[in-house]
Amino acid sequence: MKITMIGAGYVGLVTGACFADAGNEVLCLDLDEAKIRTLRDGGIPIYEPGLAEVVRRNQAAERLSFSTDVERAVRFGIVQCIAVGTPPDEDGSADLQHVLAAARSIGRHMTDYRVVVNKSTVPVGTADKVRAAISAELAQRGAAVPFAVVSNPEFLKEGAAVEDFMRPDRIVVGAEDAQAVQVMRTLYAPFQRSHERLFLMDVRSAELTKYAANGMLATRISFMNELANLAERLGADIEEVRKGIGSDPRIGYQFLYAGAGYGGSCFPKDVKALIRTARDAGGELPILEAVERVNTGQKRVLARKILQRFDGKLAGRRIAVWGLAFKPNTDDMREASSSVLIEELIANGATVSAYDPVATPVARRIFAGLKGIHYAETPLAALEAADALAVVTEWQEFRSPDFQAIRARLKTPAVFDGRNLYDPQEMRRHGLEYYPIGRAAAGTGK
Ligand SMILES: NC(=O)c1ccc[n+]([C@@H]2O[C@H](COP(=O)([O-])OP(=O)(O)OC[C@H]3O[C@@H](n4cnc5c(N)ncnc54)[C@H](O)[C@@H]3O)[C@@H](O)[C@H]2O)c1
Repeated sequence: MKITMIGAGYVGLVTGACFADAGNEVLCLDLDEAKIRTLRDGGIPIYEPGLAEVVRRNQAAERLSFSTDVERAVRFGIVQCIAVGTPPDEDGSADLQHVLAAARSIGRHMTDYRVVVNKSTVPVGTADKVRAAISAELAQRGAAVPFAVVSNPEFLKEGAAVEDFMRPDRIVVGAEDAQAVQVMRTLYAPFQRSHERLFLMDVRSAELTKYAANGMLATRISFMNELANLAERLGADIEEVRKGIGSDPRIGYQFLYAGAGYGGSCFPKDVKALIRTARDAGGELPILEAVERVNTGQKRVLARKILQRFDGKLAGRRIAVWGLAFKPNTDDMREASSSVLIEELIANGATVSAYDPVATPVARRIFAGLKGIHYAETPLAALEAADALAVVTEWQEFRSPDFQAIRARLKTPAVFDGRNLYDPQEMRRHGLEYYPIGRAAAGTGK
């Protein structure tokens, strides 16, 4: 099948490459000329494990190509996937300008039947807006070309995106047009060979399913963070509580970790957008409003603990930060807790020496105008002349560090762990002060 992917970002590039890997011909369109140039030259603009191999394999087989030519892209695929960004607008709602621009360009250039597949995360009712935008363009040029609009939200996780797409838990398709349903079944057949994973539903339910999933996951995290803060006050240990409740199969262990708050390109904006959708529909989502509020506070928890440890005085202090990406195995720093921490430390007069295995180039762009941040080449180099260490992202390489080397380098030596990676007893044994989340601090001598 011929597929056009509109938007070659995290979702578009991964999805396009995986569809090509199943034998389809895929053309990825992006308006970002630099991104398309990089891809054509064999580069990969994002860090995503396993993606480079799939892209190169299919580029070499001439099943995957890249373009900035909108007309050519619309003429190319019977399937037109929209995978452009839907960032939050000022009022929290999803900004649909890129989705609707893509829809208009489809309407402007299509000459044959098209299945327009919305993979971007969009509020309920967006398929109707996409349909209207295409129809308006067709009407303007007096053309009558049939098309269907399908909702097919994407559930891949950054850091495991290729694996998630190749072996999905579920494929949600919202479609009301028989021909489009058939096209979607054919498109996804290679990804569900062992058993059916495709849930066919009405378009609005499909649109809501994506937000409901992210809302639920964000809720679990904020719930645990709220309990973690209570556990600290009560002298309980959130890690023990986590195991105690996770063992209940109705609860399960996943997404039950207390930490320094969730970030990324999806949870924060999708929670906001769903709250907005509810308000626009004359309702409220008080649970999700609390989830967001708790998370905003939780992103500041490390800064709060650090300030407390140094009696509110950080001027002249240097804090090492391990982990910049919003989670491991990605270079994505959108809404990352690290940004909140770094900005707060610097605002309080500290300097920061940061280390991340892959996100440093992204951080350099984000913090281009910020004085007081330095980047280290290795985790230990970040600790040189530092007063304390804050661990923000649970990269594998931070899980079992050389504690003696940490102890030897840190001036204070205090470790603030935003992901509860370490054993408090072991930290004490190494002479480190340890400040985790939702558990008692260790080695503080208090
Ligand atoms: N990143 C994720 O993990 C993830 C997971 C599931 C769903 N989503 C959703 O998928 C959508 C895309 O997310 P992303 O992270 O891939 O975004 P992204 O910012 O990485 O990529 C979007 C791309 O679209 C391009 N673009 C914008 N307007 C365009 C147009 N009119 N024509 C062609 N290209 C255009 C941009 O230049 C950019 O390269 C969002 O709605 C997001 O919520 C993301």
